[in-house]
Amino acid sequence: MTAQLSKKSEAWSARFNEPVSDLVKRYTASVFFDKRLAQVDIQGSLAHAEMLAHQNIISQQDHAEIQRGMAQIQEEIASGKFEWLLDLEDVHLNIEKRLTELVGDAGKRLHTGRSRNDQVATDIRLYVRSEIDNIVGLLRDLRLALLDLAEKHADTILPGFTHMQVAQPITFGHHMLAYVEMFSRDAERMLDCRKRVNRLPLGAAALAGTTFPIDRERVARTLDFEDVCHNSLDAVSDRDFAIEFCAAAALIMTHVSRMSEELVIWMSPRVGFIDIADRFCTGSSIMPQKKNPDVPELARGKTGRVNGHLIALLTLMKGQPLAYNKDNQEDKEPLFDTVDTVVDTLRIFADMATGITVKPDAMRAAALQGYATATDLADYLVKKGLPFRDAHEAVAHAVRACVDRGCDLSDLTLEEMRVFSSLIEADIFEVLTLEGSVAARNHVGGTAPQQVRLAIARHRSKLN
Ligand code: ARG
Repeated sequence: MTAQLSKKSEAWSARFNEPVSDLVKRYTASVFFDKRLAQVDIQGSLAHAEMLAHQNIISQQDHAEIQRGMAQIQEEIASGKFEWLLDLEDVHLNIEKRLTELVGDAGKRLHTGRSRNDQVATDIRLYVRSEIDNIVGLLRDLRLALLDLAEKHADTILPGFTHMQVAQPITFGHHMLAYVEMFSRDAERMLDCRKRVNRLPLGAAALAGTTFPIDRERVARTLDFEDVCHNSLDAVSDRDFAIEFCAAAALIMTHVSRMSEELVIWMSPRVGFIDIADRFCTGSSIMPQKKNPDVPELARGKTGRVNGHLIALLTLMKGQPLAYNKDNQEDKEPLFDTVDTVVDTLRIFADMATGITVKPDAMRAAALQGYATATDLADYLVKKGLPFRDAHEAVAHAVRACVDRGCDLSDLTLEEMRVFSSLIEADIFEVLTLEGSVAARNHVGGTAPQQVRLAIARHRSKLN
């Protein structure tokens, strides 16, 4: 019996009387997706081994052998020569098995005082931490591109909308700055999440800690973690940091999606506010005239899958008793796909922002329709002493008259305007221009070109 059992390859198989079926093997294995964690897995193992040697739990000789073996494994993985085996279940056991092949007993000693439970939790944290840094960098690139666009169009006027109806004139630079604000908060959120990601689970072992005289702070320092996780059960079982990351990612995609929606509308020939460079668009296989804004449309669509991954992780967590359960293996694919989607989307958007051509004439023509300066007329009357509600009513009468006659407020003569309020004087025409309207909103957060330039400078100094 001993001989038969020793033939089995699984790290835990000595306990079992029969092998698992091929289907179960495939069902429980994760190596084909978690091999993405190989680099961080080795990084974590090396830090653990260094600590074991420092604490005299393994010998210096063993430590040197482990380092040598891991260096070779890294090479094998980099060159594509490493053989990933389904039989070995996951990234951790694949690497450990190869290490043992290469360096013998030293490889078998690596797992002293450790479990795959604290090992995998450490790997994911290292992975998420580095992807946060990557995403924060990409958010910066995107903001810099949007700031360039905002600066170019600090004075370009288009209608601002509420309820999809022309509301008040705004500057295109101001509109772009709204997205810069959103993406700034997204970066802040990622960095805030990073603090909670950046704590070390290693040392929790399977769930209760270990009997070996380990030094967790030492491992934390080696791996650049800010702190250790302070409860072993919590350390191996919770994935709240990954959920938080996915929530921050879902918000990034939500902002990207709103922007996409606008780009699609603006590029519609019916609106014609912008054009997007050909390299971000595709044609139709049947309608030769078409140029479709595929990139923004796809980004809007991909927001759905990232939202889905967030819900998947929340649902994965909600029913689990303490401590580690195999359910947690399901955290990886949603997490990886979230990273891939957000990273690709941000990269493309930073590039696409440089490929947006603004059409100021179309924007201006649209802003001249829909009585966009009606509020300016009301504000004018207020400044002449009329209470705001009365001013609002007087202007509403004027707008109705203009609708009936099919003209704009600024098309009325002074006498015609004075029918609605005798407070109106010749200086009104200045107020009713689009330029006068945006320039008058000259305070922090307002749409005036001067404020747009100040805001751009503020953002740039933060980003540099
Ligand atoms: N592949 C596993 C995961 O991703 C590693 C931890 C397995 N631990 C265990 N006790 N089966 O979660």
